[in-house]
Amino acid sequence: MEKAVGGFSPLIRVDRNASKPLYEQVYDAFRAAIVARYLRPGERIPSTRSLASELRLSRIPVLNAYSQLLAEGYFESRVGAGTFVTSSLPDQLTPSEDYTRGSSRLRRMPRSIARRSSLIPRYERPAWVRGHGAFSVSQPAVDAFPFHAWSNLIARYWRNLHLSALQYGDPMGYRELREAIAAYLRASRGVMCEWRQIMIVSGSQQALDVSARVLLDVGSPVWVEEPGYWLARHVLLSAGCRLVPVPVDDDGLDVATGIERCCKARAAYVAPSHQYPLGAMMSASRRFQLLDWAQSSGSWIVEDDYDSEYRYDSKPIASLQGLDRSSRVIYIGTFSKVLFPSLRVGYIVIPSDLVDHFAAIRHAMDVGPPHLYQAVLATFINEGHFSRHIRRMRLTYRERREVLVTSIQKELDSVLQAHGAEAGLHLAVTLPRGYRDRAISAQAALQNLWLWPLSPSYLSKNVRQGFILGFGGTTAKEIPEAVRKLRAILVSDRAR
Ligand SMILES: Cc1ncc(COP(=O)(O)O)c(C=O)c1O
Repeated sequence: MEKAVGGFSPLIRVDRNASKPLYEQVYDAFRAAIVARYLRPGERIPSTRSLASELRLSRIPVLNAYSQLLAEGYFESRVGAGTFVTSSLPDQLTPSEDYTRGSSRLRRMPRSIARRSSLIPRYERPAWVRGHGAFSVSQPAVDAFPFHAWSNLIARYWRNLHLSALQYGDPMGYRELREAIAAYLRASRGVMCEWRQIMIVSGSQQALDVSARVLLDVGSPVWVEEPGYWLARHVLLSAGCRLVPVPVDDDGLDVATGIERCCKARAAYVAPSHQYPLGAMMSASRRFQLLDWAQSSGSWIVEDDYDSEYRYDSKPIASLQGLDRSSRVIYIGTFSKVLFPSLRVGYIVIPSDLVDHFAAIRHAMDVGPPHLYQAVLATFINEGHFSRHIRRMRLTYRERREVLVTSIQKELDSVLQAHGAEAGLHLAVTLPRGYRDRAISAQAALQNLWLWPLSPSYLSKNVRQGFILGFGGTTAKEIPEAVRKLRAILVSDRAR
């Protein structure tokens, strides 16, 4: 593959005082760079004129070196395109270091890494996350996104660009977007906030990361829902926290058990509007119990409100943050479900007295998501596209949810028990004893059915087997067939 490479002086060093001729120094440096794989087959080499000027040499030694390299087959020239490292160089000529295992010299030395990083399971992409389609989790209906309006706003942004937008921004985020989000959260989610409390981040995951850096120390105990959102657990583990699993039931987090297990936990991470993965909505009495605990023990509550715009049988539930009278709740939200996940824009609502701490930590991490997307999103919200999109998608997802629930009842009622279909873009189903969800998910992926197993959502050994079924990205037409396929997979698993 061709690749334009700029700035060769660090790679091609010449010493005018050396006895070795200049052309030979240039030749040797290129050859060494190719053999060591700093330059790869197919990569573009600068013209003799520009390299000579970069190295402050006359063109003659560079021309001589190039003609030698061309003659020996290290370089090839393509008419009208320039000079390239020969694309067909054999591997023996460019031996590659095995970067994944390290060279033997490196392996002999101790290679210490932070204990925290080894607490997180290795990064892997299990079979069931490798594709998109029926039952993929975390997948909104991206094909229904209003591309036309969005691309018009992007074009408008570039047309009317203020040069200040190209400078470093406020680590709290772009003011107009913060104002738009604050207004939306007050009206639609019952969040008590002013725009100054809003920080723009690159998604809920970073929101939790920033919150952990501000609020938690290495060794701090944190309540996490059991079962719960595994990526949030990884963020907390990488902050060095001690996870305290607290069971969830139909009323959400079992606060009394949390208090029994660790009443002095520094924080609780909860998704009260739509618990992940089982989907419970936290009852009012549990909400007050949790807030009372936080106030009396001086603990923090991180409320993850990741998909509560979509509640189908009643109005969306107001946030826990809105009930908090002691500023103990850090509220985090995301545009991953309501718009699309690669946008990487989310937000934190920070208690007023902590805003400076959050801003300082955020600034130490990076400055914020690209101004372009923050500004376009602000206009997208302010001009009404956002609320229109949510209204439209609520109808689409309600239909998908209904078709999925009906199909499960029709095909799999005796096998699967469904949980948490009242909101969001997924529901969970549990399996009777004897089934192994991971093995079935791996099998199903071979048939383009993307079933996320439920068991990895548990921290303790006492796990339930089942699946998390996303319906956001699966059309109502596809769902019945996908459920029949799931039934066939379960039947053949039984027969084994
Ligand atoms: C519980 C929960 N929180 C948050 C998110 C979204 O995360 P992000 O904003 O980092 O894309 C997800 C995505 O699936 C989730 O399941």
